[in-house]
Amino acid sequence: MAPSKIEYMSDIWKDGIFENKVVFCTGGAGTICSAQVRALVHLGANACIIGRNVEKTERVAKEISSIRPNAKVIGIGSVDVRKFESLKDAAERCVKELGAIDFVIAGAAGNFLASIEQLSVNAFKSVMDIDILGSYNTLKATLPYLVESGKKHRVDSETLDPSPSGTGGRIIFVSATLHYRGMPFQAHVSVAKAGIDSLSNSVAVEYGPRGVTSNIIAPGPIESTEGLGRLLPSDVKKAYTRSQPLGRVGHVRDIADATVYLFSDSGSYVSGQTLVVDGAQWRTSGGI
Ligand code: HXC
Repeated sequence: MAPSKIEYMSDIWKDGIFENKVVFCTGGAGTICSAQVRALVHLGANACIIGRNVEKTERVAKEISSIRPNAKVIGIGSVDVRKFESLKDAAERCVKELGAIDFVIAGAAGNFLASIEQLSVNAFKSVMDIDILGSYNTLKATLPYLVESGKKHRVDSETLDPSPSGTGGRIIFVSATLHYRGMPFQAHVSVAKAGIDSLSNSVAVEYGPRGVTSNIIAPGPIESTEGLGRLLPSDVKKAYTRSQPLGRVGHVRDIADATVYLFSDSGSYVSGQTLVVDGAQWRTSGGI
């Protein structure tokens, strides 16, 4: 599915706030993650997007690089997040070509609808491997660079003054809200996302002292995504949309805005948190 474009409004966020920042994003050619990266690049960042499909990843990287003059966006395809070495190579290439990794978005995920009876052991394991192991591998491959970036951002242990140099060393894991209740046909993804949430909390407390922040963005139903397309048949979509607390489903821009906030100076004291961007959907009894 082609990522839907967002026209980013610079009257909300200031142009250039991410100048000299580099974002590394897995699942970066997908609908949600490409919108997150597009917003950051629009606001000054350079980016490295990681995907499994070479053609798609390079095409999306080229498209994102065209939104700002002098933007550098590398697309590295054929990376399977289940394989640590390929992620490590990709992180090294990102640093070699773009100079650093300041921000990471761990967004690669796998999903399909299946009952627990239908789910083979290998199917369950595949989703654990892509989501949990893949998120861990992404973290592990980029952590040395996040810590390096975080140095600019650490509190001085003598004076207890925060560094004035602003953002650096930040990771966002893209999760979900499925596991807050219980979701039929989504046991595998729910388990995986709960694990990712836990990983983020550990990173926040373990690496906070080294200047790294870690947070979760939990999107609700987002228009034009593969996930929503799979989970919501088109014949019930209109009624479903009307039934939502805000009378709409989310737009990729909603997730992009949350990302900009967490990576901006305004989000510098936010760590170990989950930012649910779902228009209160999960608090209703309907579930998705
Ligand atoms: C039951 C299935 C299945 C299905 C695959 N499997 N699809 N079982 N129902 N629909 C089983 C296979 O039979 C196999 O088990 C095992 O899963 C591995 O499948 P493979 O195709 O060999 O693995 P792989 O190529 O690695 O594919 C991984 C995948 C696939 C997760 C199964 O769907 C994938 O690559 N997805 C990536 C893209 C994606 O899903 N994006 C959507 C993310 S949305 P056996 O026993 O036969 O060997 C998202 C949002 C969640 O995550 C929140 C929603 C609100």
